[in-house]
Amino acid sequence: MGTLKNKDILHGNQFTRKEIDAIVRTAAQMEKELKGKGSLNLLKGKILVTLFFEPSTRTRLSFEAAMQRLGGGVISMGSVEGSSVAKGETLTDTAQTVAQYADVIVVRHPRIGSAKEVADTVSIPVINAGDGAGQHPTQALLDLYTIRKELGTLKNLSITLVGDLKNGRTVHALVEVLSHFGASFYFVSPAILRMPEEIAARMREKGCMVTETEDLALAASKSDLVYMTRIQKERFADQSEYEKLKGSYILNREFVERLNKKITILHPLPRVDEINPDVDSYPGAAYFRQMRNGVYVRMALLALVLGKR
Ligand code: NCD
Repeated sequence: MGTLKNKDILHGNQFTRKEIDAIVRTAAQMEKELKGKGSLNLLKGKILVTLFFEPSTRTRLSFEAAMQRLGGGVISMGSVEGSSVAKGETLTDTAQTVAQYADVIVVRHPRIGSAKEVADTVSIPVINAGDGAGQHPTQALLDLYTIRKELGTLKNLSITLVGDLKNGRTVHALVEVLSHFGASFYFVSPAILRMPEEIAARMREKGCMVTETEDLALAASKSDLVYMTRIQKERFADQSEYEKLKGSYILNREFVERLNKKITILHPLPRVDEINPDVDSYPGAAYFRQMRNGVYVRMALLALVLGKR
């Protein structure tokens, strides 16, 4: 394969259909091989560095687990307060530094475009683990992998995306990767948290059907899948605005049962109140399985960018 060798993973729109297929295929291989063995030796001697300037649980830990399950090593900048960032070091200088110690960088930072800045500074592969309200391409790929596993196909699905579509980087990246498969999208959000027009327009250009609405029940009744997201508190300049909008959409068991059909429910997590815990035992609630798939997909991405698959 080798098409992703030495490449950066920065944006959901960077992938060709062929690359997406290769990532899915490699992730499925990783899942299978891991079941028998628990760990592989593919990246022995390689080092991953995690550079996280924003909170993370799943993304950082699943990247670390992925690298270790591939036999590689992990180093981490640790907290911003505990690093030279606290002394005023720039992002690009920090990037230059860690590039001397590692073979691949995973970076999360509050500024849109920050991962690209890092990639333009260093010669080793850089993986964007979230650049502010921008993109989160590895989440998008694990979401896509999960959808394929849960629904058996990616083709011509009706997909409802709910919540903070303006600031949510997971949905920004997810629609880009899904646009290769002929999706119908329902974008459900409060009016001021709508999907950026540029992204909605690109989806239409790519031949996807796009419907924007505030009515979750209507959209869900027409969909195969509901992708819930959190209102992104940290992106609000005015916290009273956030207080007004939180709780805009809440999925509970009663709502799901009333749809009267099997529906798949995803969420990148963390959740605040948008999915009631009484949904967790619903058979279509796939958000915990989704987290586990993150390890396989990140294993695939690491192996591919480091040229070992
Ligand atoms: C998301 C993120 O950081 O963008 N979390 C994740 O990576 N799984 C979603 C969020 O924080 O709401």
